[in-house]
Amino acid sequence: MLTDYPELVEFLPCESPNEWVQWALENETLLLIDHAHCEKKAASTAMSLMYRYVDRENLLHKMSQLAREELLHFEQVLNIMRNRGVEYCHLQASRYADGLRKHIRTHEPAKLIDTLIIGAFVEARSCERFAVLIPHLDEEIGKFYKSLLKSEARHFEDYLSLAEEYAGHPIDDRIAFFREIEHQLIIEPDVEFRVHSGPPKAA
Ligand SMILES: [Fe+2]
Ligand SMILES: [Fe+2]
Repeated sequence: MLTDYPELVEFLPCESPNEWVQWALENETLLLIDHAHCEKKAASTAMSLMYRYVDRENLLHKMSQLAREELLHFEQVLNIMRNRGVEYCHLQASRYADGLRKHIRTHEPAKLIDTLIIGAFVEARSCERFAVLIPHLDEEIGKFYKSLLKSEARHFEDYLSLAEEYAGHPIDDRIAFFREIEHQLIIEPDVEFRVHSGPPKAA
């Protein structure tokens, strides 16, 4: 499934643990609700970048398109939830995004570069997680997740290319720094299941 996106696979530090995949299948309702939150959050992150960096033309175009696509995904998840009688509710966010964001440097343009690199990791990981779940899901969700792969992979590329463009110098070291943090966040056990959680903590 991910063979169409070799750069994305190479970018990520590891595959999702099998224990996480099993956990997701046991928590389909939570998966859908948290997925809806993720799509909404992705749109909101893109919009806040558009507010903060009004002088970055490529960013404005790419983030505007991205925000629209994430909101469309949000509506698609809501439709599946409605079909299944799943009620939307507030959920505490997983430690994943904050675990990455707390390392964002505070001066510009470093702050922008770090934010874009994190965006690339979030998009790449989401794409990888949808891909590993697809073979195990029923037809409706499986088909939907398959349709998401292409756009999430493109979002990953957009974030990465913007980070490279605005850095103006190689960012391999900074990517490696965040890759190590992402790795820890993905393999360390978690208490609550989320789209971006680690595997379940042993009882
Ligand atoms: Fe999305
Ligand atoms: Fe996305």
